[in-house]
Amino acid sequence: MSTTPAGPGRLTILDIARMRADGERIAMLTAYDFPTAQLVDEAGLPAILVGDSLGQVLLGYDTTVRVTMEEMLHHTKAVVRGTRRAMIVGDMPFLSYTTPEDALANAGRFLREAGAQAVKVEGGVPAARIIDTLVKAGIPVMGHIGLTPQAINTLGKVRVQGRSREQARALLHDALAVQEAGAFAVVVELVPEQLAAAITARLRIPTIGIGAGAGCAGQIQVITDVLGLGSFVPRHARPYADLRGTILAAAIAYRADVEAGVFPGDAQSTRMDEAVLDEVLGRATVDRTGTADAVAGGIPLDGDL
Ligand code: KIV
Repeated sequence: MSTTPAGPGRLTILDIARMRADGERIAMLTAYDFPTAQLVDEAGLPAILVGDSLGQVLLGYDTTVRVTMEEMLHHTKAVVRGTRRAMIVGDMPFLSYTTPEDALANAGRFLREAGAQAVKVEGGVPAARIIDTLVKAGIPVMGHIGLTPQAINTLGKVRVQGRSREQARALLHDALAVQEAGAFAVVVELVPEQLAAAITARLRIPTIGIGAGAGCAGQIQVITDVLGLGSFVPRHARPYADLRGTILAAAIAYRADVEAGVFPGDAQSTRMDEAVLDEVLGRATVDRTGTADAVAGGIPLDGDL
């Protein structure tokens, strides 16, 4: 893998552009918390998206529409703290970039308060003005076309976009508009693979596909899908682990150990000098039994301890 930053520190949009120019496929994942972000960074992924999918896969909302700026910033900060090399992209939540003023203020918070290096906004042609404003202000932007989950209430349901002639034409326009507005990359979600490949071939910037086939310049997946932690596996995802099974088995085994009294064991416990305890409890050495019940029986329960 040749995704080494030019100097110390994080990868930047220049590294992403170089990967695209060199024909290197770009693997991205989402992350929402410190320990997972640490591992994704250690695995060498060049960029991490703190997606507003956070709302559904971590916070239990029914759609991403409910996610707030404060929630996004809170999780983006954790991901930034957990990473050293990956470029961190913060996902602008629903209605946080409706006007150029709002977009600037909120995108600024992702960079200044949370420490992200870029933001992502949903929408093609209609988002171009916002992308242009942000890029001109020095904020790198990733676009997002095809299925745009924040529009779920107008789309009606999650479905493949761009199958009809009109939709396919509109998607091509969206992709070009996002590029011309200055985005450094564009997510292409739930689009037929031939159309996504055609869009990729027509753009200088990398397309990052999700449910858009192997012809994109890179791929992104929601980390819980990849880890097998979600309640279902979307058709476009491939689980690389079974964390759901692993966590369930661990919780059941732990519960059984506690109920059987075999956790904690010696290795997880500490001991003190019995003579000190005898003195504190006003207990004679012969009264020691070593059991929790017996010790409790000798403890003065009047709050003197
Ligand atoms: O919020 C998210 O995780 C996303 C990805 C699916 C691209 O937007």
